[in-house]
Amino acid sequence: MSTKVVVGAQWGDEAKAKIVDYLAGEADIVARFQGGANAGHTVIVGDRKFVFHQIPVAAMHPDKICVIGNGVALDPVGLIQEIAELEAEGISLEGRLFISPHAHLVMPYHKLLDRLIDESKGKGKIGVTGRGIGPCYRDKAARTGIRAGDLLDHGLFREKLSANLWEKNRILAALYEHEPFDEQPIAEEFMTLGERIVPCLTDVSLYLNRAMTDGKRILFEGAQGTFLDIDHGSYPFVTSSNTTAGGACTGTGVGPTKMDEVIGVVKSYTTRVGSGPLPTQFEGEFQERMRKQWGEYGATTGRGRRCGWFDAVLVRYSARINGLSSLALTRLDSLDELDSIRICVAYEVRGKRIEDFPWQPGLLTECTPIYEEMAGWKTDTSEVRGFDELPDRARDYLGRISALTGPPISIVSVGPERNQTIVVK
Ligand code: IMO
Ligand code: MG
Repeated sequence: MSTKVVVGAQWGDEAKAKIVDYLAGEADIVARFQGGANAGHTVIVGDRKFVFHQIPVAAMHPDKICVIGNGVALDPVGLIQEIAELEAEGISLEGRLFISPHAHLVMPYHKLLDRLIDESKGKGKIGVTGRGIGPCYRDKAARTGIRAGDLLDHGLFREKLSANLWEKNRILAALYEHEPFDEQPIAEEFMTLGERIVPCLTDVSLYLNRAMTDGKRILFEGAQGTFLDIDHGSYPFVTSSNTTAGGACTGTGVGPTKMDEVIGVVKSYTTRVGSGPLPTQFEGEFQERMRKQWGEYGATTGRGRRCGWFDAVLVRYSARINGLSSLALTRLDSLDELDSIRICVAYEVRGKRIEDFPWQPGLLTECTPIYEEMAGWKTDTSEVRGFDELPDRARDYLGRISALTGPPISIVSVGPERNQTIVVK
């Protein structure tokens, strides 16, 4: 049996896709278990670059099965578009894309409301990706959502759509002075989309559990990151799903005793896109320079990401919440040119040193990082393929990260290409 869960251990954009793409080489099936088109997962193979939003990045490997679990907020419009884009690149998903009938559908009103609700918050806005994620999960929790399986039955779909529009159109008019949605065009569009989705519908829990019994290797691909988790993240500046390892179980119907490993992906530094505190954020000109140098712009929205030093307080928390077996550290090469490198080891808040991520509302904004400073290695690591060949100072940096956060480091990435990967023995 081999099941691995890959999660982001920071605020998303940890280059999870690079790690999943690499690990997918040793898997038979890759399953997404939460999130939706808010994710932007970039894979680079040779001179080709793909940005995945909903389809598991394993699609890049022509023989791998791609699964979309019940925990995903599925935007069928975006999905069909993504499939078409892949097909245009010669990658077919025919017969190897399975979708849970229990995945909730992102509807046109979810996307509109996502934007309107966030805008109405003014200064307190979350900075959502506008993909309809929050409103879709809101309907799921309210038990009024429409699920992928509902596309099977036109009558039932129509009934649910009608009930939803009754409510949404009133909200749109009363709160946002926005014109209503017409039922007929949405019903027609979704019936057409349904023709493409329905053949992929599969009892995902049954499929994955049988596959495990047959000795198949499964990779669970997380989206977003631990600090965007609806329960454990920096609430309210989070997404609306469980991005942490437990989400792999609830989001696919595979029990926790079936998971062998949980790999937390971290960048060698920290980034955040959207609102909310980032304790180790760089200041002034250095921020601009590093963002540009590192190309830290969102793959989904193109927004500039805020950058900061590696924060061990965060990752220690991630190790605990996810039960991380190991860390996969990406973008080590990004630090190659720096004279000195900082790691945040603890926070200072109201005159006290704290080692653990604070739970008190708003306290994170008051935390100032306590840093350890290390000399940089000032050597190009992008061609290194063995751990022992890394500069001493780079290995010291990795060792310190592991010591401060808990889990061992199993993979180090030194560039976006598949072969720019060091497996730590
Ligand atoms: P990947 O999978 C980084 C952030 C948004 C916003 C908050 C809520 O590429 O790592 P949402 O649209 O989900 O309701 O937005 O979460 N966010 C991400 N940040 N990486 C992502 O995905 C993200 N998906 C959502 O910027 O702050
Ligand atoms: Mg991303």
